[in-house]
Amino acid sequence: MPPDAKLDRERLAALYGEVRAASVRIAAPLRTEDCVVQTMPDVSPAKWHLAHTSWFFETFVLKNAPGYAPLDARYEWLFNSYYNGVGAQFPRAQRGTLSRPGVEEVLAYRRHVDAAMQRWLREAPSEVVAPLLEVALVGLNHEEQHQELMVTDLKHVLCTNPLEPVYRSDLRTAAAIADGAPVTPATLQFAEVEGGVFEIGHAGGGFAFDNEGPRHRVLIEGCSLARRLTTCGEYLEFIADGGYRRPELWLSDGWDVVRREGWSAPLYWKEQGGAWSLMTLGGLRALRRDEPVCHVSYYEADAFATWAGARLPLEAEWESAAGGEPIAGNLLEHDALHPLPAAAGESRWAQLVGDVWEWTASAYLPYPGYRAWSGVLGEYNGKFMANQMVLRGGSCATPRRHVRLSYRNFFGPSARWQMTGIRLAR
Ligand SMILES: [Fe+2]
Repeated sequence: MPPDAKLDRERLAALYGEVRAASVRIAAPLRTEDCVVQTMPDVSPAKWHLAHTSWFFETFVLKNAPGYAPLDARYEWLFNSYYNGVGAQFPRAQRGTLSRPGVEEVLAYRRHVDAAMQRWLREAPSEVVAPLLEVALVGLNHEEQHQELMVTDLKHVLCTNPLEPVYRSDLRTAAAIADGAPVTPATLQFAEVEGGVFEIGHAGGGFAFDNEGPRHRVLIEGCSLARRLTTCGEYLEFIADGGYRRPELWLSDGWDVVRREGWSAPLYWKEQGGAWSLMTLGGLRALRRDEPVCHVSYYEADAFATWAGARLPLEAEWESAAGGEPIAGNLLEHDALHPLPAAAGESRWAQLVGDVWEWTASAYLPYPGYRAWSGVLGEYNGKFMANQMVLRGGSCATPRRHVRLSYRNFFGPSARWQMTGIRLAR
């Protein structure tokens, strides 16, 4: 746990209420049936997310609170995601087979946990609360992580449905904010990133996950990074140039996936008579050439970069280039739930924070001197440090409070149901 997190239990209780309410708000526009479906093993039903985030507080905080009684002891197994130190788990790929507990029962489970957490945070003796305050803070950051997953998972549920259902029709759109404001420069420009020895990793002063530290030195050769994200227009040129049919552009594993899955465009793209549309959480609409390409895998990002005569940035290059950038942009609270065209402006980087998670060419590995959190929570991050690539910068589905410039997201190289896109380097 971060030793320097200054935690005030009253403030944490208030924050707890805000963060927990935000999860329920994301699920609110869904019909009951939408909350139960699992469209692929990586996707969890919204109902499961709502239950599992409650399970986290119950398992890691409340079970240590004197007098706490679980609502249903079987939930310990049912809603455990991957913590072997807690016990066995209900199989991940079968989460969508459970009609019970129903959505109403899961919401009752949330209320049960919330009431106990508020009582514990506000009333329990400080010697009981103090050792677990940081775990409660982890629980809130965990909940925020699942808010993003809830958005991307419900997107997969709705956007793979042939009836093209709309999640919300009142989302902020590029068209609505256009009015001359967002203008993606037609010509892609690059900005220099100085070479030298730099420090990366979380510098302390606030919450961070264990995988963001320790802060350490890295050697960066001079390079340049694209000043904005790769657009759909640029990606269309890659497709038109036979990008998905040319094995010389692809990593070997990536080419296998392209052939096996029959990929010919990013996820949620649809072509009819030469015109491209996108399925979004606001429904099906025409593709805009100036919007960032989203829902590409690492393999697609890498093949595109190769085709463009460039490469993907290393995470150290990204973090050193990002130094000092504000945590602001098209994040969850911006309420677009889709990446937006770059705004015209003077700033060095556009869309660095928000819009899409940017694939890096860095494998997800421990930093030098990495130590996992102690106890069962040590399973949170460290055990996934194989066969995954790092992504940086947050997305249009990431809560603003959640992301940092040192934040290391990670997914397998063929994953593309997250809000993932491309910033070129060379
Ligand atoms: Fe989780």
